[in-house]
Amino acid sequence: MPTYNTPDPQRAGFARTNRQTIAQRAALIRELLSQTRSIAELCCGDCAAQWELYRAALPDLTFCGLDVAPAIVAANQAAGVPCVCGDTLDPAALRPFLVYDIIFFGPPLSAGCDGHHALAFDAVQPGCAMFTDLFLGQLGYAGTLVCIGPKTTHMGDARRLYERIRAQRADIGLRLIHYSHATVTGAGIPTEPRLKYVELWFSSRLPDVWEVRRSGCSTDVVIWGRMTAMSTMAESLDQTTDRQADLSARIAGAIAELDLRQIEITRRLTPAQRCQEGLSMIRLAEQVGAYRLRKRRPELSEAEALRIIRSAR
Ligand SMILES: C[S@@+](CC[C@H](N)C(=O)[O-])C[C@H]1O[C@@H](n2cnc3c(N)ncnc32)[C@H](O)[C@@H]1O
Repeated sequence: MPTYNTPDPQRAGFARTNRQTIAQRAALIRELLSQTRSIAELCCGDCAAQWELYRAALPDLTFCGLDVAPAIVAANQAAGVPCVCGDTLDPAALRPFLVYDIIFFGPPLSAGCDGHHALAFDAVQPGCAMFTDLFLGQLGYAGTLVCIGPKTTHMGDARRLYERIRAQRADIGLRLIHYSHATVTGAGIPTEPRLKYVELWFSSRLPDVWEVRRSGCSTDVVIWGRMTAMSTMAESLDQTTDRQADLSARIAGAIAELDLRQIEITRRLTPAQRCQEGLSMIRLAEQVGAYRLRKRRPELSEAEALRIIRSAR
């Protein structure tokens, strides 16, 4: 059995994801799997942001996280996030997740991982191969399984895992290889685009096309600025209007600063890719803003909240 590493509850949370990369995921789900009714995160860590953003993108969603660390599970539950304690290599812990439409697996916090040194795909424990043998091979999961690999993950890793899965399950293909970049830190500070992780979207429901995509290094940064602005606005709308000038300045500043960093990378995308990515992120950003606004002002209908958010400048 591999040795697991769990986060130190005394230290700041260690996560690969941030709100920006989760928003990228939510946009992909809406594009590729719009009928999704349930999502689970295995090795979830603090998954409050997933809980909020997925539900904003997909109303009526059932969500659940699973983590081996009781303190992580307790913190999620205390924040109102559905989460259970268990090991991703324990068949009994996995069985309840067989009915979920989409499963995100990992990245676990491997022994020896300190967040600063890159681990190879096969060095991560528990690894994707052990997990897919169990979840796809032995337990027969049907749906979409997104294996989240470290940023060192390369095509050879994807091919080896694919062949291993196909030897057990000929109905499962690799729909997407997604390089997820972030241009904001977990604390929301702008940075140059950084590759955070590589997602391998295996599915029995999607075609086996091996599409390669990059997110987080182009238009979505601009959109992210707008999303942040809209969320800020949603939070501020129930306050008095004398803060309006200050709010407008903060929104303009956020968008302008983020936009300038992306010009070179944006050139590498085709116009169609830029347009598709941008539209998808705008729709998601509007929904997140409306969702947050309605949490503060439940008397608003979804349409009214969207109208207010869309009028944000
Ligand atoms: C990097 S953290 C959070 C990962 C989160 N999905 C993200 O991307 O932000 C990894 C989590 O995996 C959990 N973990 C490690 N081994 C595990 C296992 N065998 N089963 C379930 N959770 C595990 C750790 O407790 C930790 O909270």
